[in-house]
Amino acid sequence: MLIRMYEASDDVFLEEMLFEAFFWKDDAMRPALSCFREEPEFAKVFAGWGRHGDAALLALSSHGEKLGAAWYRLWTSEDHSYGFVRPDVPEIGIGVAAPHRSKGVGRALLRCLVETARGDGFSALSLSVSPDNRAKLLYEEEGFRRVGESGTSWTMLLDPVPQP
Ligand SMILES: CC(C)(COP(=O)(O)OP(=O)(O)OC[C@H]1O[C@@H](n2cnc3c(N)ncnc32)[C@H](O)[C@@H]1OP(=O)(O)O)[C@@H](O)C(=O)NCCC(=O)NCCS
Repeated sequence: MLIRMYEASDDVFLEEMLFEAFFWKDDAMRPALSCFREEPEFAKVFAGWGRHGDAALLALSSHGEKLGAAWYRLWTSEDHSYGFVRPDVPEIGIGVAAPHRSKGVGRALLRCLVETARGDGFSALSLSVSPDNRAKLLYEEEGFRRVGESGTSWTMLLDPVPQP
């Protein structure tokens, strides 16, 4: 597996992985991505991608197949997503394509994303996760701690971002 930085041609895949993160429950009814893409809470996550504080990574197989993606973005107190904590703390998201889950891709992406954040000078990272999502265990194992709730989801914080 190879992990590389986002390229402009990854837009569609990034959106697909965000869709997976929104509809993470295996048995959940999910709309078609083509319909859901215009929903404001979804559309804003990658809108105008490339501003200060945006970063995304892709995991690829040795054949070049895209396996999963992880990203972060800075938000403001006025305009933010579910896992917002502070304007200086990027919020992360992660998704692995269903056939490639439970093989270490997500953890590898998360660790690389934390390294990227450290390199970009961020001292903390936040996220939002349902307490029913197994992904919560991954986040806890990687050092994230629950700091609040937003709706039915937990807000978690990695603070400080660990040094190497
Ligand atoms: C959550 C997710 C990114 C983890 O990536 P992954 O490649 O499947 O996970 P890994 O194989 O690296 O395993 C790391 C940990 O993730 C969790 N995990 C593993 N498979 C998972 C799955 N199918 N769904 C949720 N979490 C899973 C486990 O805690 C696992 O730890 P363990 O190996 O000690 O049991 C991935 O399963 C996924 O995309 N799920 C759907 C979208 C989602 O829930 N995104 C996060 C929203 S907050």
